[in-house]
Formats: sequence, structure tokens, C-alpha cells
Amino acid sequence: MAARVFSGIQPTGSLHLGNYLGAIKSYVELQDRYDAIYCIVDDHALTIRPDPAELRANVREVAKTLLACGLDPKRCTLFVQSHVPQHTELAWILTCVTAYGELGRMTQFKDKSEQAESKGDFISAGLFVYPVLQAADILLYRASIVPVGEDQVQHLELARDIVRRFHSVYGETFVEPQPLLSPAKRILGLDGVHKMSKSRGNEIGLLEAPETIRKKLAPAKTDEARKRRQDPGEPTKCNIYSLHRFVTPAATLPVIEVGCRTAGIGCLDCKGILAESIETIAKPIRERAAAIDANPKAIDDALEQGARRATEIAGATIQQVRERTGLR
Ligand code: AMP
Ligand code: TRP
Repeated sequence: MAARVFSGIQPTGSLHLGNYLGAIKSYVELQDRYDAIYCIVDDHALTIRPDPAELRANVREVAKTLLACGLDPKRCTLFVQSHVPQHTELAWILTCVTAYGELGRMTQFKDKSEQAESKGDFISAGLFVYPVLQAADILLYRASIVPVGEDQVQHLELARDIVRRFHSVYGETFVEPQPLLSPAKRILGLDGVHKMSKSRGNEIGLLEAPETIRKKLAPAKTDEARKRRQDPGEPTKCNIYSLHRFVTPAATLPVIEVGCRTAGIGCLDCKGILAESIETIAKPIRERAAAIDANPKAIDDALEQGARRATEIAGATIQQVRERTGLR
């Protein structure tokens, strides 16, 4: 049996280029080499209390986008976290072998709790134990490889700590998971400062119309040195160039690099080429998404089949965990 891959993605609605380059592209590649399991983590989404109807719609939107990006229910398992209640059951058990102090050190918790406070919102305990639920997701399937962006590496270290603590109390049960980072492990948003994310509003949506993407790119920051068209620039200081590196064919990159350094091309030209490169990736995804819109049952079928297989594996693991911990 091939080694097992597991990853989770939040149902935040429309996925963006950072999600695609940092994670989904590897999900697609991994499905042929591994036993790949991918989960839309709606229980995690509750930590920020989305509107119920919106959450339900977002789960479907993310499922559709993942299928459109090339996840194939025949070659991988795609399911929704809340369809497999063993995730929350194991999360509780793991909470009891997780150190409080460790959770307080999680960068994502610090970020998200600051965001909540700045909006005058309270910080939910769910936000605090979020990484334990994430560990449960992975451990239930005894996955050894977890393709993620850089922001998730700390959560995986915690998952390994949890495995070791569980083992020292109850004996060998799980597999220690390792992160698998793609070369595009941290794509910056159009502000050129923060990582691309929907909550910052600095994203390029995967299903966005090409004209919208062009409009968003137009005001995006480039190398500060290029104030006028004839000023030469330094590609390594430009976020637009850093995006080119992940979407533009390798043969074209030197043309852009030299063009920037010699002011042979302007920033707008450079953004035009970037928009074309993005369109080459996005067009087939948009077309497949439209085909799924015409046949929405494909989403239900994929998720149902995925939940069935996930439940089988998760059910066997949780049974063992209940026995080892004295719950049964
Ligand atoms: P999320 O939408 O936060 O659940 O993220 C889904 C996956 O995309 C995770 O593996 C993230 O690490 C990855 N990801 C999200 N934003 C970025 C980004 N700006 N650059 C690279 N990877 C990202
Ligand atoms: N926390 C991850 C994120 O914000 C999503 C996630 C939930 C996940 N469970 C997971 C990622 C398990 C990898 C493995 O992107």
C-alpha cells in the first residue's frame, strides 16, 4: 500500500492563487503516487462563526473548485470533516494530552486572536484548540505526509508532539506526520506585504474573471525604484516578479528579468504577461467549474463516496483509541 497523504483546506469560499500554488497543485500531483485523502474542514471554520447558510454554500464552492483543479474522486478521497464525526471525538481525546502552554505559542492563534480582538470580538476557545482538531484530522488516517503551506509547519510540529505524548501514556498508536512544502510555500498577496489570504482581501481568486484579475493587478505594488516607466528595476524586490516565478514558463522568465533591469518593459507590460500566465492556469479550472455547475450532483457523489471511505478508516482508528484510553 502506498504511503498515505492527508491535507485539509478551510471552506472560506473562493480559493485563491496562494491556495493553488501552495497546496492544491501538490494535492493533484500526489493523488497518483500516494493514498491521498483531502478534507474540507468545516468544523475548523466554526471557530470564526460564519453564517450557517454561507458555510454550507462555501463547502460546496470549495469542493467544486478542488474538483475543477483536478482532484479526481477515482484517484483520491475527498470529503467534508463534519461528515465524519470521529474527527471531533479524537480531538477531545487529544486535547487531554496537549499542553496548554504549547497551544498559546501557536502563531496562527496569536494572529487570529489579535484579529478577533481588533474587531471587538471575543476569542473563542475553539480558536485556541484549533490545532488539536487539525492533529486529529491527520492522526485518524495515520498519514505520514501532509502537503501544506509554510503557515502550517508549526501546527504539524505540535501534531508530532501530541503523537509522542499520546504514545508515552497509551503506547504506539499513530504515525508522526511530516509537512511537505511546495516551492510556493508562501505566496504574498497583492499588497506585497502579507501572505495572500481572503481575510486580508489581497487575493487573486482562482475562479475570478480575467478582466477582474487584470484590474486587481494594475495598482499592485512593484519595485519602489521604478517610479517612472524608464526607471530600471530589480526583479528580486518585486512581488509581481515573485508571482511570475510560479506561474510563467521558465523560458519567459529571463525576458522579464532583463526587461525589468533595463527598463525594456514597464511594470504594466510585466503585469500583462502575468495576467496571461495566470489565465493559462485558471482558464481550464474555470471551464471545469462551469461543467460542474451544470451537473452539481457530481459534488454530492464525490463527497458521499469520500465520506464513506474516510469513515471506514477513521472508525477503525477511533475504536483502537477508545480501547487504549479506557473509554471502552
Ligand atoms: P486555508 O485556506 O488557510 O485552509 O489554506 C489551505 C492551504 O493553502 C494550506 O495548506 C495553506 O498553507 C495554503 N496556503 C494558504 N495561503 C497560502 C499562501 N498565501 N501561500 C502559500 N500557501 C498558502
Ligand atoms: N489549518 C489548516 C489551514 O488553515 C487547515 C487544516 C485543517 C489542515 N486540518 C488539516 C491542513 C490537516 C493539513 C492537515 O490551512
